[in-house]
Amino acid sequence: MKLSETPFISVHEIQERVADLAEIISQNYAQRELLLVTVLKGSAVFAADLMRALNRPLQLDYVRVRSYNGGESTGAHVFTLLPEAPLAGQHVLVVEDILDTGLTATAILERLRAAGPASLALCTLLDKPSRRRVAITADYVGFTIDEIFVVGYGLDYNERFRELPDLRVLTL
Ligand code: PRP
Repeated sequence: MKLSETPFISVHEIQERVADLAEIISQNYAQRELLLVTVLKGSAVFAADLMRALNRPLQLDYVRVRSYNGGESTGAHVFTLLPEAPLAGQHVLVVEDILDTGLTATAILERLRAAGPASLALCTLLDKPSRRRVAITADYVGFTIDEIFVVGYGLDYNERFRELPDLRVLTL
């Protein structure tokens, strides 16, 4: 296992892209109050930066979902945390760190949609479209990346490397 010595995406590049995304999202939600639903654990770092860059009133909530089948999920998802606040009538933006097979985000959107939000959208820091197993696209994408394993900025490998301030490539 080898961690790249130089960043794959630097702190500065992340900051710039987060600012770009925040500007677009702010414009799109100019007349609407946002409820950010962060997907724990990996997205916590991205969401913390994004919410501050948005510079507008918003509410926060969280989901935590586990997929079972030894890593590669089959679509069997168990929610271990759901938003506390009622979502009915809210403008919900789900914040993910990475969209890979798309199975987790699909399960989350399906679950949250059932709660009757006024609108529901998905923002992901990283998108790996080559890995997709279900048809899903994010409304807001930070970076589209190839099929490489990335850690840092909240993303882990077996719970390690989340604390890195930038994104690195991990060669397994
Ligand atoms: C990661 C990531 C997404 C999901 C993406 O979460 O945060 O939620 O996997 O994969 P998919 O598109 O193939 O479903 P993970 O289960 O690793 O949990 P973590 O955020 O706690 O690290």
